[in-house]
Parts: sequence; C-alpha cells; structure tokens
Amino acid sequence: MPFLFCCAISGNVFAQKFEELAQTPPMGWNSWNTFQTNINEQMLRDMVDAYVASGMRDAGYTYFVLDDGWMAMDRDKDGNLVADPKKFPSGMKAFADYVHSKGLKFGIYNCAGTRTCGGYPGTHGYEYQDARLYASWGVDYLKYDWCNTDSINARDAYLTMSKAIRAAGRPMVFSLCEWGNHQPWLWAKNIGQLWRTTTDIHAGFDKDLNNGTWFSYSVLHILDLQTSIRQYAGPGHWNDPDMLEVGNGMAYSEDKAHFSLWCMLAAPLIAGNDLRKMSDETKSILTNKDVVAIDQDSLGVEAYRFYSFDGLEIWVKPLANNGVAVCFLNRSSHPQNINYEWKDHLLTDSVSKITIDFNKTTYSLRDLWAKKDLGTTSKTFKYTVGAHDVIVLRLSRL
Ligand code: GLA
Repeated sequence: MPFLFCCAISGNVFAQKFEELAQTPPMGWNSWNTFQTNINEQMLRDMVDAYVASGMRDAGYTYFVLDDGWMAMDRDKDGNLVADPKKFPSGMKAFADYVHSKGLKFGIYNCAGTRTCGGYPGTHGYEYQDARLYASWGVDYLKYDWCNTDSINARDAYLTMSKAIRAAGRPMVFSLCEWGNHQPWLWAKNIGQLWRTTTDIHAGFDKDLNNGTWFSYSVLHILDLQTSIRQYAGPGHWNDPDMLEVGNGMAYSEDKAHFSLWCMLAAPLIAGNDLRKMSDETKSILTNKDVVAIDQDSLGVEAYRFYSFDGLEIWVKPLANNGVAVCFLNRSSHPQNINYEWKDHLLTDSVSKITIDFNKTTYSLRDLWAKKDLGTTSKTFKYTVGAHDVIVLRLSRL
C-alpha cells in the first residue's frame, strides 16, 4: 500500500504535458497538404503575410506550422538538427521571429523514428537535445510523426518526447501523428494535446486515393472512423482527424461539408491550402466565425451521429450554455429533402449526458452558412440539402 501511494504521487509531480494549452482545438496552417517538402523561407514569409492579410489570423487561426522537409539531411558535428541552409538562408530562429512578429505562434515537425517520412533526420535518441533546440528557436507547437519506428514502443516514444518538451521549459502544443495505429486516444491524454486518429487525408470527398503502397482517406472515410472515439476528446486533449483540405480541389459544397463536419467533431482546424491564392469561396469557408465558434465551443464535446438513412445524416454537437449545433449531411449525389419534426425526437447524448426534449423547450434556429434565422423548433423543419452538402444550424434555447 505505501508503495502504491508513492507511485500515485510521483505520477502527478512528474506530469509532463503543459496542461493549460489547447483548451479549445488548435487552429492554424501547415505546409504539408499543398507543398509537401517543397518549402522555403521566402515562400513561407509570403504565406505568413497572406495569413494575416486574408483574415485568417482574425478568424482565430494562430499556429503557423512547418511540416516535413525543413531540415538539412544531416545533423551537425554536435548532433544538432540544422535547418536546410538553401531553403532557410536566414536560419530557423529568424523565421520563427518573423512568425512571432505577426502575432502568430510557430510550429515545427519531426518524427519519433530514425528518419522522418521524407527521409530527413528523425528524433529517436535525440529527444532532449531536439526539444532544447526548438525551445531556443521559440517553437510553440511540435507535430511528431511515426515513420521509421520499427520496433519502437509508441507510448514510450511519445512519452519521452513529451518529457523532453517539459524539460526544455517552453510550453509547446504536442501533436502526436501516429495515425491511430496504437489507439493513442487510450493513452495520450496526459502526453499531448492532440493525436491523429487515422492515416493521411486527401482532397477527396468520398473516395480514397491509391498511392501505390498505401491509401490516403477521403473526408467521409475519416468521418466514419471518428464515431467510436468521441468520448476520448475534450479540452486539452483532442482527436485529430487530420488537417483541412479546404481549397485544395474539392467542390465548394464538399469543402463546406468537410469544414462543417470537422467543426462538429471539435477537430483541430489546421488549414492546408495556399493562403496566397485563396478564392473568395475558400476564404468564406475558413473564416466563417459562426461555424468556427461551433468547433471552438468551450464545452469541447464532439458531435455524435444521431441519424443515418439513405445517405442523409444528422450530427448533433452539444454546446456550452444550453446550446446545440445540428448538421444535416447529404452524402449522396442527389439532393435530399428534409422534413424534420423536432418534437418527435429526443436528443440524448451518452457522453455529455445532455438530453433535449423539444416538447418541453423551444429553440431558435440559425443557419450558419446562409447567416439566416429559420424560425424555431416548434415548427417542422423543411429544407433541401444539395448533393455532398450540409446545412448547419445553431440552436439556442428560448
Ligand atoms: C506523414 C504524416 C503527414 C505528413 C507527412 C510528412 O504521412 O501523416 O501528415 O506530416 O508524414 O512526411
């Protein structure tokens, strides 16, 4: 018994993660989805400028994250990572300073293996040294991947890096990118602030992409893999269904549906498009503050799938202050009519324990994309949702 007591105490004392970070899902931009490893200082400075000029920062996006490809192929003689001098002639500290000077936070990427997925030096065996280097540059966010890990134990590898970040002393959001292989939602709550739940996304609505030796998943495929793990997410520890593909080639309605669903899932909102050439439609999706507010709601509860029939689904996300968001999703390739009697359906959520009976309480309805009030739950809701599209309603108690 005394032994157990001692271990319980030390578990708390040495809790490694910075608890205060990411109380709502992190928002930012990452270089991977558009540029892969083709990044360089000038292009990224232009991206930082566009981040601010486009209104992304004002809409709540904060992190600017470099993904794979920022490093030179070898460490220096002291074992330190080096920013590729051709891509980053001014060095990484100068680039981080530039990001910070615009009121943004700076994120970087590495991998738990011996090499990153792109073949650059991995962190395995250098955890404390790399964390200290990142802290000296002013890194605020670390995405930590899972390539070339052979027989490494996932929980141990991520725990070690989490402790290394803590020891380096600078608060950093720790983003686990282990693709859900070892169910991080079961063990990563005290290790990091977010964990990937699946393999990589691609800009496709309902069809996976064959990359030869592996598939990247469509928006709907990833969506379907989230339903059984929603109870593991909450303030400070989020399921990450991967970065956004808004503006990367899907139709407008599909981008809108993808974004809405990620907000319903309380997913990290990490844009992955070229911010320098965003269409007005793309901008209007990413910066829709009312939809972003659903994602950022302080209750931090993920939506559940309440109804599914013939390609039409209803997703329900309980919100703080007795609110609720309801998203009607049409997965099919033809329009579908909704004729929904609120009073006929009790909304009950096993995770938040919230129950709504529309016979007892009436709610007002606001369409967050059309930015229009649509009456109340005392009337039948009639609407036609287009193919591969959504309508997102915010319900407020009257
Ligand atoms: C993995 C990750 C991606 C990206 C690449 C970089 O595939 O899942 O998000 O970081 O590696 O090589």
